[in-house]
Parts: sequence; structure tokens; C-alpha cells
Amino acid sequence: MRLMITGGLGFIGSAVVRLAVAKGHSVLNLDKQTYAANPANVASVASEGGYRFERGDICDRAQMVALLADFRPDAVMHLAAESHVDRSIDGPAEFIRTNIEGTFQLLEAVRAYLSGLEDDARASFRFHHISTDEVYGSLGPTGAFTETTPYAPRSPYAASKAASDHIVRAWGETYGLPVLITNCSNNYGPFHFPEKLIPKTILAGLAGQPIDVYGQGENVRDWLFVDDHAVALLGVVAKGRVGETYNIGGNAEARNIDIVRAICRQLDNRRPLRAPHERLIRFVADRPGHDFRYAIDATKIRQDLGWLPRVTLDEGLARTVDWYLENEAWWRPLLQRDGVRQRLGLGARA
Ligand SMILES: NC(=O)c1ccc[n+]([C@@H]2O[C@H](COP(=O)([O-])OP(=O)(O)OC[C@H]3O[C@@H](n4cnc5c(N)ncnc54)[C@H](O)[C@@H]3O)[C@@H](O)[C@H]2O)c1
Repeated sequence: MRLMITGGLGFIGSAVVRLAVAKGHSVLNLDKQTYAANPANVASVASEGGYRFERGDICDRAQMVALLADFRPDAVMHLAAESHVDRSIDGPAEFIRTNIEGTFQLLEAVRAYLSGLEDDARASFRFHHISTDEVYGSLGPTGAFTETTPYAPRSPYAASKAASDHIVRAWGETYGLPVLITNCSNNYGPFHFPEKLIPKTILAGLAGQPIDVYGQGENVRDWLFVDDHAVALLGVVAKGRVGETYNIGGNAEARNIDIVRAICRQLDNRRPLRAPHERLIRFVADRPGHDFRYAIDATKIRQDLGWLPRVTLDEGLARTVDWYLENEAWWRPLLQRDGVRQRLGLGARA
């Protein structure tokens, strides 16, 4: 397939780009190169014939129209977004702009592109919108999100993604755009930007610095190894039924504190300090409106498309810790980027 992938210099987008190129797809990676982007994430495929990069902004409709006309994709996989909840609390404007306005402009560019295609090409084209389980809000101690769970986003990030999901669905219903939507749980793995819980914990522990845990660390997330997500996404874009939503999850729930302790144990084995790394854990003020629990029921994608997560949480965490230990040249420069290693998202409640 010819795949236009937005946000392909980010964490998940780059995993999709690497897998897609490895599978022989032609890829156009369109990315604005915000603070979260890193060309090193795709260095392993950058010189492949099937790979092309364009710097650009999904909010720039004229640029998207021109790129679509030039590249002529069979599908757009839309991952470009502002993705960090804490940053959305401090500065929601960029989330509204990229996640909502940008998705709208991209859809309009795709609509114009489709109107110029032959019937066959139009029929087989797909617009795949990649979203999050955070649109469903927060769960109590039991239950799991299904594709029919009502939307109840609670952070500016989640609200912006929920809005974009609704817009994509509306463009499917109203204009007949062949859309697919996936909502996924928390990803982790190599190339994860060091503002997120798992890489932040690994790097603080490695440096012997305090490991901050929000609140009491009781919040539960359903963790998915990023390469498993990439496999799921390529499966959905190729075989998903137009108009459908698929939830994607790791079936691997864990409390934040348990993730942090597991990383500490890994570091004790690999880079022992005088005292166990757990001694570095420090409980800090919670995130305002911190969703208690997310969990995904991924029955539909398993039954319809045969997708299952392959990497267990224990194995994935070990692989991730090892990757950060071996790739200091990748993460060291990122520590200088704006906001990294700072406490973000404390918000000021009205
Ligand atoms: N990280 C997760 O756990 C998770 C879980 C479920 C869904 N998602 C969704 O998956 C997608 C990718 O997430 P991620 O964690 O890889 O994000 P990321 O922040 O690592 O990467 C986002 C990429 O988008 C690019 N970008 C931002 N604004 C842009 C714009 N206006 N135009 C073009 N490019 C722009 C950035 O430069 C960056 O390379 C997002 O849509 C996110 O909502 C993420």
C-alpha cells in the first residue's frame, strides 16, 4: 500500500513507519517536528527507497492537498497530535489547534483528494484515525471500555481527541469518507519521549534522582507494547471494516506504583545502586482530574481481525529498560528539550 502517515516522527507513528517500510509499503511520513518529534526514531528506514519524509502541519490544508495529489496514497494513517495530558493542562490551545482543527483540515484535504480519484481507487481508499481510550473517561475498580462506551473525556487532551473522533465519524456519515477509528490504551516501549511515566522513571532511576509518582500511584492503566500497537494499526488499515471503531489494549492492567516498582527492580538487577532504586520513589501532588482507571475490552479486534497483543508486560518492561540502557545517545539530547524533567500539568483550578 501507499501510506501517508501523519506524526511519523513521534513515538507510535515512528513504530508504524518502521513496520510499514519493513513490510514493503511505500510511506510518506508527514510531521511538523514539534518538541515530541525525533528523526532518529526512523533512522533505521530513512534511506529505504519506500520511505519519504515531508515536514508539514496538518492544519495547513493547502499543503495537505498538494502532498496528497503528489503522493497519491491508498490510505492516510493519522497519528499527528499533541499527546501529553500534563501539557494539555498547562497549554490547551495547541491541543485544540492540532488535534481538532488539524484533523478537520486533513479530512477536508482528503475529501478533495477523493473527489478526483477513479471509482476503484476511491472505493479502496481508507482514512484511519488513531485515537485513545481516554475519550471514554475514567473507570471505577471494575469493567472495561468497549466500542460502545459513551464518551466522557475529562482532560483537555482527552476532550480534543474525543472531538476529533466525532469529526472523523461525522465525515464518514455525511460525506461518505471511508473512515476507520481505533482507540488504544497506554503505549510504552523504545523511542518513548522522556516526559511519559515509563521512560521518565527509567531515566530518573538510572541517574539516581527522585522518581516522582503522582498522588499515591493508585491509578491503573492498561499497558500495550508499542510494536503490538503498530501491528494492530496496519491490520486495521488493511482489513478493518469501513465506518467501524476498534478498541486496542494490552490486557495488562497495572497501577502506576507497580509499574514504577517493577522498573526499580529491573534497574536493581542491571545497574545496582548502594540502596534499592525504590528508595528514590517520591509521592508528589496528583494531576488535577487524574482519571482513576482505564481498561480496554479488545474482543472486537481479536474476533474480527485476529489481532492479539504478543508482548507481556514483564517482557515489554524488561525490553524497554534494556533499550534505554543501550540507547543513551538517543535520549540524552531529549533531556534538554522544553519542559522535560520539569513538573508540568499542576494546573490552576478556578
Ligand atoms: N502514547 C499513547 O500511549 C497513545 C495511546 C493511544 C493513542 N495515542 C494516539 O496516538 C497518536 C500518536 O501518539 P504518540 O504518543 O506517538 O505522540 P507523540 O507526541 O510521540 O508524537 C506526535 C507526533 O505528531 C507530530 N505533530 C504534532 N502536531 C502536528 C501537526 N500540527 N502537524 C503535523 N505533525 C504534528 C509531532 O511532531 C510528533 O512527531 C496520537 O494521535 C495519540 O493521541 C497515543
